[in-house]
Amino acid sequence: MTILIDTHCHLTMNQYDPDRSGVIQRARDAGVERMITIGTDLEDSQRAVALAEGHDFMSAAVGIHPHDVKEIKDPEATCQSLKSMTSNSKVVALGETGLDYHYMHSPAPLQQEHFRIMIRMAKACGLPLIIHSREAKEDTLKILSEEVGDQLRGVFHCFSGDMEMAEAALAMGFYLSFSGMVTFQNAKTILEVVKAVPLDRILTETDAPFLTPHPHRGKRNEPVYVRYVAEKVAELKALSIEETAKAIFANAAKLFNLNLENTP
Ligand code: NI
Repeated sequence: MTILIDTHCHLTMNQYDPDRSGVIQRARDAGVERMITIGTDLEDSQRAVALAEGHDFMSAAVGIHPHDVKEIKDPEATCQSLKSMTSNSKVVALGETGLDYHYMHSPAPLQQEHFRIMIRMAKACGLPLIIHSREAKEDTLKILSEEVGDQLRGVFHCFSGDMEMAEAALAMGFYLSFSGMVTFQNAKTILEVVKAVPLDRILTETDAPFLTPHPHRGKRNEPVYVRYVAEKVAELKALSIEETAKAIFANAAKLFNLNLENTP
């Protein structure tokens, strides 16, 4: 049995309201031993923690998505709320956070300011950071290089950057997490990156309900499809799926300090 992990999904989103427990069970039945559900604002982060509390194979991350930082009314109170959530043992990371200049739903300076706050919080509380970076390579790397320290650990989620960005992320000690994008027809650059990144720095995710892998592209994504990502990584590394998935699971367990008591 291949032991899979989805390190980044959004199981609280309303796309799953009709059949959330079915979605989770389907993933479990297919060998997805762990899922990390990611909060995108304060309320969603609370929902993520509550959902994870109901399942011993699920963990949560708490944070404000770069799209949503414009909604922060009181930055101080928001940080306090996030900080208090991290005392829950279900919370294994801060995020997602970072910069999204593709949609620019929130002004860039606000995104940058909040990103710096989250980096400092991650260093202070010792949790890894889940970084979202889209069309913001320069600023992401600049801010990280200014803020990064020995204590900061984390992952570039849904990595879609080039080799230069991958090398910079690896040099700062980060993991790279790959999504269903590796199965897309036009994924040439990402495939080169997967080939070049050492296996011990690779994670897998779905970012469900978004970014559905081929051959289900266009439909709702869900954690069971993380298998397509792991299979693509295995193919590119010329390793068996079992060996690849086992290594990826170990990477995630290490980064997120997962409690493996109930894992086969
Ligand atoms: Ni996400």
